[in-house]
Amino acid sequence: MITIALPKGRLMEETINLFNSKGLNIEIPKNTRKLFFYDNDNKYRFLIVRAQDVATYVEHNAADLGIAGLDVLKEHKNDVFELMDLNIGYCKMVVAGNDKNCFGKKNGGVRVATKFVNIAKDYFLSKDINAEVIKLYGSIELAPILGIADCIVDIVSTGRTLKENGLAVIEEIFESTAMLIANKTSFYTNNTDIKKLLETVG
Ligand code: PRP
Repeated sequence: MITIALPKGRLMEETINLFNSKGLNIEIPKNTRKLFFYDNDNKYRFLIVRAQDVATYVEHNAADLGIAGLDVLKEHKNDVFELMDLNIGYCKMVVAGNDKNCFGKKNGGVRVATKFVNIAKDYFLSKDINAEVIKLYGSIELAPILGIADCIVDIVSTGRTLKENGLAVIEEIFESTAMLIANKTSFYTNNTDIKKLLETVG
């Protein structure tokens, strides 16, 4: 049986909808705190994990496959195979803030709040801008409003969170969609089953 790590939340629903539209038979269990479940044909076991942890479960072979956004894969650089772009979970990684000129103002550099510390550091390094990166775990948009950062590096999906908090995109860093990823050993040992799934959802 193939084990697939799914990211909790919106992307999990999009993944299940995609898989079902291709002929799989999966129901997300309701009213339970159980963190794994099986499809109705008992071919796949699904793990429900945090989006940031999907590639870690896959890399350590707790799951053969996983669904992970490019944003998370670029941040954590796990040693996994990226098998297929599922073309769901579209979002953009951006620099955003309430002052379009926030980069130029401070001689000492820019203060950036983000969940994506590595992406932010790499981005400002590539632009030769000295950045102090402040790690936050959520509600990043509050940081420039409250003055603890000059801008943020974060994902934008609908744009509602930025808009409703008076922020705007300053620069786009990259576009992100969800990828089907595989454990490198499992990809070879379970190749027939994995290829079958790839053909089904591809
Ligand atoms: C993400 C992201 C933005 C928001 C963008 O946060 O960090 O805050 O979604 O989505 P939008 O463009 O559709 O408004 P998430 O919902 O994961 O919550 P968090 O702040 O707790 O991380």
